[in-house]
Amino acid sequence: MIAEYFKSKKIVITAGPTYEKIDPVRFIGNYSTGKMGYAIAEELAQLGAEVHLVSGPTSLTPQHPSIQLYQVESAVQMYDTCVKIFPDCQIAIMSAAVADYRPDRYNEVKIKKSEENLTIHLVKNPDILSTLGHSKKANQIVVGFALETHNELENALDKLRRKKADAIVLNSLNDPGAGFKHSTNKISIILEKGTIFEFPLKEKQEVAKDIIKCIAENLA
Ligand code: CTP
Repeated sequence: MIAEYFKSKKIVITAGPTYEKIDPVRFIGNYSTGKMGYAIAEELAQLGAEVHLVSGPTSLTPQHPSIQLYQVESAVQMYDTCVKIFPDCQIAIMSAAVADYRPDRYNEVKIKKSEENLTIHLVKNPDILSTLGHSKKANQIVVGFALETHNELENALDKLRRKKADAIVLNSLNDPGAGFKHSTNKISIILEKGTIFEFPLKEKQEVAKDIIKCIAENLA
């Protein structure tokens, strides 16, 4: 039933971190490896979906030959790519750890060490999940992620409603083995109506299967 549902569905997935350039040798980034998003992409491709994977800088390579990879670096590039692809998609899964802010200017030459203090002004990046959530049509499903450190459920539900997602995959940094840097993850999936599905700690490939099954069973 699940393979039937995903067969030929066009799906955009974001994965990995974004890098926000400061100067030719420096950037603001984060510890995301992209493993969760790539695992979801592989599973969906195996089910026959048309997968468009928009990835920030990672050391990973898609294995399934049908996955279309869009390599981007910054949040703005990721945003521009997703906004172009999404109108023809039935599903969007936003697992990237997008930088919330970027430096307000790029220094064309390396910033030299001179003063005791250096101030870098940051400006807000566009929110991809929120943009897709607010523009989605009745036949489109948008799934977001939330990595929280406190008031996890409350924050995730608030995020879901603010960004108009149909579901949020929540992982807490308080759970050992969950989040960045691990090959495992422990998630809960929260639906718009407030229903919560909790899952035990598993390898990310298995977590990807749980997420996909949950989408097919509850949002299709
Ligand atoms: N996200 C996005 N674009 C952004 C920031 C976040 O698409 N510019 C997406 C992420 O891919 C994820 C979800 O939004 O699916 C949650 O990201 P998070 O950074 O936790 O949300 P924020 O709105 O930044 O909330 P917080 O105040 O907790 O940082």
